Amino acid sequence: MPPPVFVSQPIPERGLELLRRERIAFEINPAGRILSGDELIAHLAGREWLLCLLTDRIDATVIRRCPSLKGIANCAAGYDNIDLAAATARGILVTNTPGVLTETTADLTWALILGVARRIPEADRYTRAGRFTGWGIGLMAGHDVHGKTLGIVGAGRIGVAVARRAVGFGMRILYHSPVACAEIERCCGARRADLKSLLRESEIVSLHVPLTPATRHLIGKRELGLMRPDACLINTSRGPVVDEVALVRALREGRIAGAGLDVYEREPELAPGLAGLENVVLLPHIGSASIETRSRMAEVSVLSLLKMDGQCL
Ligand code: GLV
Repeated sequence: MPPPVFVSQPIPERGLELLRRERIAFEINPAGRILSGDELIAHLAGREWLLCLLTDRIDATVIRRCPSLKGIANCAAGYDNIDLAAATARGILVTNTPGVLTETTADLTWALILGVARRIPEADRYTRAGRFTGWGIGLMAGHDVHGKTLGIVGAGRIGVAVARRAVGFGMRILYHSPVACAEIERCCGARRADLKSLLRESEIVSLHVPLTPATRHLIGKRELGLMRPDACLINTSRGPVVDEVALVRALREGRIAGAGLDVYEREPELAPGLAGLENVVLLPHIGSASIETRSRMAEVSVLSLLKMDGQCL
């Protein structure tokens, strides 16, 4: 019998230590790269538990062809990489790691907000290139963040954490959510708005929704057209929430001022033209990438495996 747990990609040591401490036999994907569906299926033969990352696609075929699989611990908050309906139909438990990455992702969202508004990466490139020849009154002038309107789309844990930070910047906060969020209203004085009003009124629009069929291309040509010409779009949720081709066009034509992106529609590919724009800050999907948080995510994933079914292992 193969070890019951398959770890699809190396994870931080804290998770592996916990597996060893609990004397759980596991195998880490030996290939050192993301496995294809067929490879994953071959590795999962006879195994019951999978610990995977958001770059592993666990679709209906993988689920159908892994009859011994009982549980999947996804080491991520998002779980759009897993066909939940197929897993549920087979009675396979699926867990994720929300909560532990909330503050870290909110911090990174703020790094993007400030980076785009105040043109930090652009100014850094300029300085390193030896182009700083003296102070100038208009040199690298960006937009203020304090006192502006922040539009939060999706008032889950991360949306609320981003809003909490905005209070310190004296911002007016709008949020869009299918249900009212008492916490964001109480602790941040945020006001609920429909998406159109939020897009029309916000200087910074920050996306914090899960990727679902309802949120795919939530921000497209029409929505970008509603935004102010001095507005910035920030996305630390999932790439396909934004129509990236429409975004490149809006940025190129100056219909919005800038964008800060940590996620992409066809990750890791970027839409044509995106990387050539000065008014964007582009990060390689590092929202939760602090050493502390990634270790905690690995630990929580292993704890979920241990807890699944109460006595699964
Ligand atoms: C990161 O994007 C996550 O969902 O954990």
